[in-house]
Amino acid sequence: MYTLECKFWCFSLTIIIKYTKIKLEDDNMLVNSNRLFDTALKEGYAVPAYNVNSLEWARFILEACNEDKSPTILAITPSSVSYFGGYKIVVSVIKMMIEELGIKIPVVLHLDHAKDFMSCKKAIDAGFTSVMIDASEMSFEDNVELTRQVVNYAKKHDVSVEAELGSLSSDGNYSSYVYSDLEQSYDFVSRTGVDSFAPAIGNVHGFYKGDEKIDFELLGAICKMVKIPLVLHGASGLDDNKLKTAIFCGVTKVNINTDLMYAWSCKVRRFLEENKNAYDPRKIILSGEKEIKKVIHAKNMIIGSKNRI
Ligand code: 13P
Repeated sequence: MYTLECKFWCFSLTIIIKYTKIKLEDDNMLVNSNRLFDTALKEGYAVPAYNVNSLEWARFILEACNEDKSPTILAITPSSVSYFGGYKIVVSVIKMMIEELGIKIPVVLHLDHAKDFMSCKKAIDAGFTSVMIDASEMSFEDNVELTRQVVNYAKKHDVSVEAELGSLSSDGNYSSYVYSDLEQSYDFVSRTGVDSFAPAIGNVHGFYKGDEKIDFELLGAICKMVKIPLVLHGASGLDDNKLKTAIFCGVTKVNINTDLMYAWSCKVRRFLEENKNAYDPRKIILSGEKEIKKVIHAKNMIIGSKNRI
């Protein structure tokens, strides 16, 4: 009887230890943005957020950042999630990649530019560690309301939330640009309780058409006022000094997509021109790997995230 009981307890203990270990390893794989922002703010650098436009890209980004010992944020838009097949697929694949590739850096799995509550909820339920609710096209009050709803849900799951105010252009020009208002930014951040804030300070998504009009004074003032980490969307195409100035003014997360897409597609186009008979998709996709990694290494250096782990 004694041995039977003892065996039962030993068995139960083994299960508990095993479960706890898996849980711990699991938790360590993907982290909440706040942990990375705290350190970056103290040490004066920014954390890069690279958009994942194909799952091969996730590997390129993880390997390049791991080599650089740079923390990283994998930014995935809802349309990319659909392209990959769903939120759970994304989370599983990224976790497996981190494990199998032996990635040792902290990684944030971030939903970029979600427009509604359900997309954020699905991402959080599946295991994303950070979400951006972008209700910047709504009225100020509706933006506050929706953002607050996402923050309430995310907080229960230890997921960080980013939100945006103002209207960034997505075609690189300023015809309909709306800069964030200073007082409204303060109001927005204090009423929503977001963890990080993406202001419109002259930054645009995609290539800048002509000179970019970044208002560093506004950026610095917003930083002083809101006192939470700021996010620079549309960092592609900005010269090195402007990126550094933005970080000096309070930017803690730098979003880069177009620079990667451009580097990759130029190289793939050249590969196809030089290899007219190429038809193996692996060779075609991988022909842009080095170019993407080159851009990532250069960006990590400029924004100061290299050798931080
Ligand atoms: P770019 O494509 O201009 O780099 O912007 C990326 C971005 O802000 C993703 O949210």
